[in-house]
Amino acid sequence: MRLAVNIDHIATIREARKTDEPDPVAAAMICELAGAQGITVHLRGDRRHIQDRDVEILRKVVTTHLNVEMAATTEMVRIAQTIKPHQVTLVPERKDEVTTEGGLDVVLHSGNVEKMARQLLDARIDVSIFVDPDLEQVRHCHKIGAPKIEINTGKFADAWRDGANWHPPLEKIALAARAAKKMGLAVLAGHGLTYRNIDAIAAIVEIEELNIGHSIISRASLVGLDAAVREMVALMRNPRPVTPPPR
Ligand code: PXP
Repeated sequence: MRLAVNIDHIATIREARKTDEPDPVAAAMICELAGAQGITVHLRGDRRHIQDRDVEILRKVVTTHLNVEMAATTEMVRIAQTIKPHQVTLVPERKDEVTTEGGLDVVLHSGNVEKMARQLLDARIDVSIFVDPDLEQVRHCHKIGAPKIEINTGKFADAWRDGANWHPPLEKIALAARAAKKMGLAVLAGHGLTYRNIDAIAAIVEIEELNIGHSIISRASLVGLDAAVREMVALMRNPRPVTPPPR
């Protein structure tokens, strides 16, 4: 099972100040060096975190696999056709949502999703569709010719976090994964996965790849804080000679 790290939150921190740090491109390099087999970013219509520049540079420097999540719109598909990431994941997008709220309703939007998926595949970009663990949705993904699906693990993750019964949502994910695999679809999964709930999902053998963002970036912000503070304390104790700014 491969891990693709979603680095959107790195860009969220940068955009909080509209500055140039932290750079998601640098974050991607660190993820790859640490063993991630893929990098995922979500290019949102409102560009609230990842920018077009990020995707352009990531396409040049990511050596593993670049997956770009996007809404199934003409604007986004055009960008993908130009930048040509290895993979596009079609996701639903709502302006005021905090994060992707659920899977794409491929049954309801099958005409548009099929058209966008076809255009991407024609541009030799692999296509995955983010769907809820629902057999009808999975069947529709297969019907419209998508080679991959990403199963939404959000409901399972919510149940786990809330101390609710997480067995039914887990079972749905396992069933959807099995059915998809039987249809010949490649099976990915993600959303809400953490260091605590990962074991149950990692045991589903049909799943080839997991997309994980929030939990990894959250952990990084804490395990990296000690070194970051020590570096600043050392600089303040031992200021370096100041050179005048360039004219
Ligand atoms: N998969 C999809 C389609 C997503 O939209 C996201 C969040 O951007 C993820 C996976 C990763 O979810 P999380 O940040 O909760 O790990």
